[in-house]
Amino acid sequence: MKILVTGGLGFIGSHTVVELQNEGFEVVIIDNLSNSSEEVLKGIFAITGKMPLFEKLDLREKKSVQEFFKEHNDVNGVIHFAASKAVGESVENPLLYYENNLGTLVYILQELEKKDEANFIFSSSCTVYGQAEKMPITENALVQQPMSPYGNSKKIGEEIIIDTAKATNINAILLRYFNPIGSHPSAEIGELPLGVPQNLVPFITQTGFGLRQELSVFGDDYPTPDGTAIRDYIHVVDLAKAHVIALQRLLNKKNLDKVETFNLGTGTGSSVLEVIHSFEKVSGKKLPYKIVPRREGDITEAYANTDKANNVLGWKAQSTLDEAMASAWKWEQKIRG
Ligand code: UD1
Repeated sequence: MKILVTGGLGFIGSHTVVELQNEGFEVVIIDNLSNSSEEVLKGIFAITGKMPLFEKLDLREKKSVQEFFKEHNDVNGVIHFAASKAVGESVENPLLYYENNLGTLVYILQELEKKDEANFIFSSSCTVYGQAEKMPITENALVQQPMSPYGNSKKIGEEIIIDTAKATNINAILLRYFNPIGSHPSAEIGELPLGVPQNLVPFITQTGFGLRQELSVFGDDYPTPDGTAIRDYIHVVDLAKAHVIALQRLLNKKNLDKVETFNLGTGTGSSVLEVIHSFEKVSGKKLPYKIVPRREGDITEAYANTDKANNVLGWKAQSTLDEAMASAWKWEQKIRG
């Protein structure tokens, strides 16, 4: 079975390639290296002993996408990670986000609709729920107008897939991720943020390493037990495994609808201070931090109801926050070492 993984050299993509290869799938990666590096291939090889096929290709070039699918007409499934994901940048440059995240999606679906049957897994985000009214968040929670073009590109992406699946032979699963963190326990692959990290965990590990002076905690006046915002941090290896299970569900025709949606989280919310304390515990380091005002656009809390993923998909996150933080710390030390 040959699986196309777009964005397969990125953070979640590379971990998913490892899990796919561990399960015996043949993987072909498309990546334009805009936020990743070819070096990641070595990490994947070190873990799995297999080198995936790699095509450096920009999915915005429709011709290249067409040529790729002509050459690889034996692809059985597609996991589509390739996208831009910086919220602030998307506000400044919305068209880049709509082109990168939606134009490319359309080109891939146009190739898949030519097939007798196609299986498609889409990287979506819990950002589509905005500040949900009820915790934990189920898949039936209202999808709200996102605050950023990035978030909107995920919402529209889902809609494009739903409309297309209705009219074609494409079956799809939309995976709504909560907050992916950590790295492969081998520390051969992990998160490689460009410049100053926008996300909490890479900022923490870089600060722990001494690369940043201190962490700014965005707000301690939220209506939560310790006043800091709450998220559902999920180990990236758990998340990667969910992709393989979702893909197998489509390949084995076990899906109940042409498009199914699953939340991927642990089901447990952790506050920013709890994440800091977890880091301090697993690293043995004191983390310098200060409280600053809230970040614009941030919500108070988001954590997943995982019943559907547990019962229907048959998948459950295994790692604890401490394990995920320990892996993130191991990776940080490895890349700076
Ligand atoms: C962010 C995006 C979200 C995107 C996700 C992708 C925003 C507003 N949201 O989610 O749309 O899907 O990344 O990974 O950017 N925090 C600090 N100090 C920091 C960094 C973060 O206190 O230096 C806090 C945040 O306020 C938040 C929590 O840590 O409460 C997690 O932040 P982050 O890792 O950026 O994730 P989200 O904001 O949940």
